[in-house]
Amino acid sequence: MKKNFGKKPLIFPQPVLIIGTYNEDGTPDLMNAAWGAVGDDHQVFLCLSGNHKTVENILRNKVFTVSPATEDQLVPCDYVGIVSGNDVPDKVERSGLHTHKAEKIDAPAVDELPLCIECELDSYEVVHCHLFGNIVNVTADEGILTEGKVDPKKLRPIIYDIENHLYWGFGEAAGKAFSAGKALK
Ligand SMILES: Cc1cc2nc3c(=O)[nH]c(=O)nc-3n(C[C@H](O)[C@H](O)[C@H](O)COP(=O)(O)O)c2cc1C
Repeated sequence: MKKNFGKKPLIFPQPVLIIGTYNEDGTPDLMNAAWGAVGDDHQVFLCLSGNHKTVENILRNKVFTVSPATEDQLVPCDYVGIVSGNDVPDKVERSGLHTHKAEKIDAPAVDELPLCIECELDSYEVVHCHLFGNIVNVTADEGILTEGKVDPKKLRPIIYDIENHLYWGFGEAAGKAFSAGKALK
């Protein structure tokens, strides 16, 4: 028997992405976004509500960073998702996270998050809150690399569980992509 859930976006797993922007006065803002995905080889997709300080900042500055939240930084990453820069202008300072200017764009990268995707705004569609960003650069701490590649086991990103409102750890590799299915070819 299968239970029917009707209309619900029960897609597992969802990422937990920390979006970095600068406020008008140059202070950083960070927010948590789980409605996000790869848009294309060179694009990220986010679904961001127009009332967020982040969106105001992106529409003004046309740039932002995207960093996967990690197990180590779970608490501050959740905090920036439950407090708005509209109400708490120093939310980043209060979170305990620190930022520096990203390499190629004028947006904050988080010191404590090892992977940073630097993006320029491609489009934002207000009605559905659909935002596409063009990736202009990616930086990664040496500590999360294995043989020169980003290693998710070292990054330890957290995963959002939309049904139970939980963050999950990343887990073990389960098989080889573009390869395991060859057994049935
Ligand atoms: C786990 C989690 C996931 C979230 N995902 C999104 C999302 O995908 N899109 C969105 O608009 N808001 C999302 N939020 C809410 C924003 O992070 C939150 O409203 C935040 O305070 C906005 O900050 P800002 O106003 O400083 O930009 C999420 C919050 C949490 C805790």
